[in-house]
Amino acid sequence: FSGRTKARTFQRALGPGPVEDMPIRAILRQRRAPVEVLCADIDGADVTPQPIAAAWKAVETARDRLAGRRIVDLFDTDPERFERLSARAEDMLLDLSKTGLDAGALEALLNLARAAGVETLRDAMFEGRPINATEGRPVLHAALRARPGDVFAAEGVDVMPEVLETRARALDFAEAVRSGAYAAADGGRFTDVVNIGIGGSDLGPVMAVRALAPVHDGPRCHFISNVDGAHAQDVLRTLDPARTLVLIASKTFTTIETMTNADTAMRWMKAGVGEAAGGHFAAISTALDKVEAFGIDPARAFGFWDWVGGRYSVWSSIGLSLMIAIGRADFEAFLDGGRAMDAHFRTAPLDKNLPVLLAAAGVWHRNALGLGSRAVIPYDQRLERLPAYLQQLDMESNGKTARLRDGLPGETGPVVWGEPGTNGQHAFFQLLHQGTTVIPVEFLVAATGWEPELAHHHSLLLANCFAQSEALMAGRSEQEAHDMMIAEGMEAAEARRLAPHRAFSGDRPSTMLIYRKLDPYTLGRLVALYEHRVFSEGVIWGVNAYDQWGVELGKTLAKALEPMVTGEASAAEKDGSTIGLIGWMKALQSG
Ligand code: F6P
Repeated sequence: FSGRTKARTFQRALGPGPVEDMPIRAILRQRRAPVEVLCADIDGADVTPQPIAAAWKAVETARDRLAGRRIVDLFDTDPERFERLSARAEDMLLDLSKTGLDAGALEALLNLARAAGVETLRDAMFEGRPINATEGRPVLHAALRARPGDVFAAEGVDVMPEVLETRARALDFAEAVRSGAYAAADGGRFTDVVNIGIGGSDLGPVMAVRALAPVHDGPRCHFISNVDGAHAQDVLRTLDPARTLVLIASKTFTTIETMTNADTAMRWMKAGVGEAAGGHFAAISTALDKVEAFGIDPARAFGFWDWVGGRYSVWSSIGLSLMIAIGRADFEAFLDGGRAMDAHFRTAPLDKNLPVLLAAAGVWHRNALGLGSRAVIPYDQRLERLPAYLQQLDMESNGKTARLRDGLPGETGPVVWGEPGTNGQHAFFQLLHQGTTVIPVEFLVAATGWEPELAHHHSLLLANCFAQSEALMAGRSEQEAHDMMIAEGMEAAEARRLAPHRAFSGDRPSTMLIYRKLDPYTLGRLVALYEHRVFSEGVIWGVNAYDQWGVELGKTLAKALEPMVTGEASAAEKDGSTIGLIGWMKALQSG
């Protein structure tokens, strides 16, 4: 085999010891390498399960069989359609019956998932094998929500002692901040916490802190992510440095946005509290040496590990702002939710397995129907940052062309976007209902809210959520639109003129996830559900969901461009557009 990564991957998969001079298949068999697909990127190794093409053919056959059948009609032919196409994990129910799938098509998709190795690679992930083969790393974010006694090892090395020790330190620190035992320089309590981070070091914490507002009883939390000075300015100017604790969250501790904002915050803090500024900082990183070099006492530095991807890290000490906001018990409930979804993902049969079912719907829409985007619409105001969080989780994981293994050829990750309902209804739902592009919608809603005194709001919220999914599916024909207007007393000619504008094609697919209440445990289940969905889709597509090389090029170019923007370097070698833009920028700046 060639290529250092490939060789390393192979070696790690086999464990220590020399690699014999034998055909790879024979070595795998002899050494009982448990996950052949791990090694599928080795040149010439014919070890990827082959039946993907056949499994995909069955999906296409199902698609062709169902072509022209409207979703509403599928309910007529199968009175048990809802039961057949929905599944539950505890109180959480996922309904796929408002998609164009039927039981046969779903079965074909689940067979595709099996053929692609979803179960095998799932087990490999939980076993700590290096499934992130382009970086030669295991993928163990599930360990971050484990309890004492659970077993997680990264390539044979038990990670649980460090995970539990670091979690305990972070939670102890969070509790100390909450109680005032860890106090500001003047001895007073911290009333405000600012998390400085970006991407996975921001989106998870900010999404979760907002989602769990009803149990937020710690200091106020603020988030600075953008390198745009407006972000730091607008947050910091509302705060008193004497009462503020700043958390620098960065896996690498080199990210330019975060380090720039960290420097600005440090200057702001020094101006406010002088030499005591360092005591108002804590950090979360895998690069603890860099944290210390920045001037943060190692006692307030919380590590995590390179087997955690940034977008999968909210469970780790990256969640420190969340820990401070909601406290130990609720943070542990959040972890327990993730852990419960892990258990479900690992043990539920595929036709009852929520992450796999959601992935099946995703692949159906993306590959079988060729739909390029998916909208995620939480009917839950407190999940307002969930779409942004899922954009990173999903698009940074599966927005890839290069394949790690033979997966399903063709399209991979779709565009993911969304906004909470009902707000979205008054913005882009027009296009969802009547646009020329069909966009599958993923609805989320809680059966009950946190405000019993405002239960009528929640009834309206639920009614709107169900109504939108019904409207997308059922639509309204031109004849119905016409008859409706006539019944309202409109002139026949006018009704005919307006009917096409007031008709809805319908037959637009949506899924619905409904749960009892958005509490910490449920949020944990939700996040883990989406993590495993993204994983399952990535396996089906054969991409590595755990690297993100696609963010590198822009970062490198930005570094080179900065001196050109400031005028310290010439932009003459750049392309015509960049030269022109820099020239106009300078003209604007000097004017
Ligand atoms: O640019 C992408 C990325 O690497 C994300 O994957 C990551 O979550 C984010 O940047 C922040 O990285 P860090 O935590 O190292 O600052």
